[in-house]
Amino acid sequence: MASDSSRWLLNLQGRCLMTCALLLLAAVSSEQLSENFYDAKCPQAMSIIKQKVDKFVNADRSIAASLMRLHFHDCFVRGCDGSVLLNSTESMLTEKEALLNKGSIRGFEQIDEIKYELEHACPGVVSCADILAVVARDATVKLGGWSWPVFLGRLDGVVSFADEVNGSLPTRLDNYAKLVATFAKVGLDAKDMVILSGGHSIGKVHCGAFFERLYNFQGLNITDPSIDPSFAAFLKKQCPQTDPFGFTALDATNGTFDSAYYHDLLTNRGILQSDVALLTDPLGVEYAIKAVSDPQSFLFEFGQAMIKMGNAPGPAPYGWRKHCAFVEHKPC
Ligand code: HEM
Ligand SMILES: *[C@@H]1O[C@H](CO)[C@@H](O)[C@H](O)[C@H]1NC(C)=O
Ligand SMILES: *[C@@H]1O[C@H](CO)[C@@H](O)[C@H](O)[C@H]1NC(C)=O
Ligand SMILES: *[C@@H]1O[C@H](CO)[C@@H](O)[C@H](O)[C@H]1NC(C)=O
Ligand SMILES: *[C@@H]1O[C@H](CO)[C@@H](O)[C@H](O)[C@H]1NC(C)=O
Repeated sequence: MASDSSRWLLNLQGRCLMTCALLLLAAVSSEQLSENFYDAKCPQAMSIIKQKVDKFVNADRSIAASLMRLHFHDCFVRGCDGSVLLNSTESMLTEKEALLNKGSIRGFEQIDEIKYELEHACPGVVSCADILAVVARDATVKLGGWSWPVFLGRLDGVVSFADEVNGSLPTRLDNYAKLVATFAKVGLDAKDMVILSGGHSIGKVHCGAFFERLYNFQGLNITDPSIDPSFAAFLKKQCPQTDPFGFTALDATNGTFDSAYYHDLLTNRGILQSDVALLTDPLGVEYAIKAVSDPQSFLFEFGQAMIKMGNAPGPAPYGWRKHCAFVEHKPC
């Protein structure tokens, strides 16, 4: 009797695993993301996310940039699979721990809160990766950017590795060719790279991220002569050499998503070496001029490029996460 029922249980479990595996296969092989993915399964999903983003940004405007950036850091490392959100375990040092992320990316509590709310409303439905994609759009719009359709149906990954971040994410010291090469790895071209760099229209940067340009240009103990002198003076006031962990704005209007970033570049007020590098190529110069003369074209094209970034390829296998910070199996 007891062995019968345990066999039955085993059988059930086996079938359950099979069903899960088949569902996963179906989802992975379809690949096609859809704007209406949650309409039937969780009609309130989009409004829940938007309400939460509104609440977070109303309470702290600076969180919008951080939330938007998470989708970028997610998609560039093993595709848009929520891997950037995973906490390290004893056996796995995750992306969060990588030099390029640690102490820099933030917004995890906010994503966790959104996920918690969604699990309450529609258990087992909305992936962490999709949450990041929608949040990036809503946060951008909240700061004045144009909306774009977010295509949904991403599955979450079950692994995340710190040492995959190097080589996957661009770095602040990259030149134009390196930036192009890094974006190409996820299917984005040079123009996408120039447009997406406009993400630096919002948010802030640690002073230490451009100290070389302010204080030790080419190891010469001088200020980068290409920086507008009055801007260099301003930056030195904002960022004394003793304070690498202080912050300054990424562009002149860092609380508003607009094309001021490109105006800054064209007037020698770029911040990061990688920002300034955009103007070392004719395509970058041309785009910056266009973005300034026709700001609406930038606002539109940014959304188009974000859609493209949201399709960044990544490896299987996928799993399910009830909590974005760790892996747990989906109830069958
Ligand atoms: C082109 C190559 C890129 C490089 C080298 C780069 C590098 C950086 C660096 C060094 C920071 C400052 C981090 C800190 O000081 O802690 C930063 C901030 C930021 N980045 Fe990028 N980034 C790039 C592209 C992008 C893209 C494509 C987006 C989004 C579409 C983006 C969105 C942001 C945002 C919003 C912030 C401000 C974050 C905040 O205020 O919390 N970046 N980036
Ligand atoms: C994940 O790590 C963060 C710190 O990085 C911590 O605040 C959070 O509580 C952790 N989440 C879980 C579910 O352990
Ligand atoms: C990534 O590269 C940097 C130097 O470019 C190195 O210091 C760091 O240890 C590497 N690995 C990780 C996981 O950050
Ligand atoms: C703009 O930059 C300043 C640092 O100069 C920072 O304190 C502020 O939070 C940033 N604003 C936003 C909306 O990110
Ligand atoms: C670098 O230049 C500053 C003045 O701009 C000077 O005070 C400092 O001693 C110099 N450091 C070295 C190592 O030359």
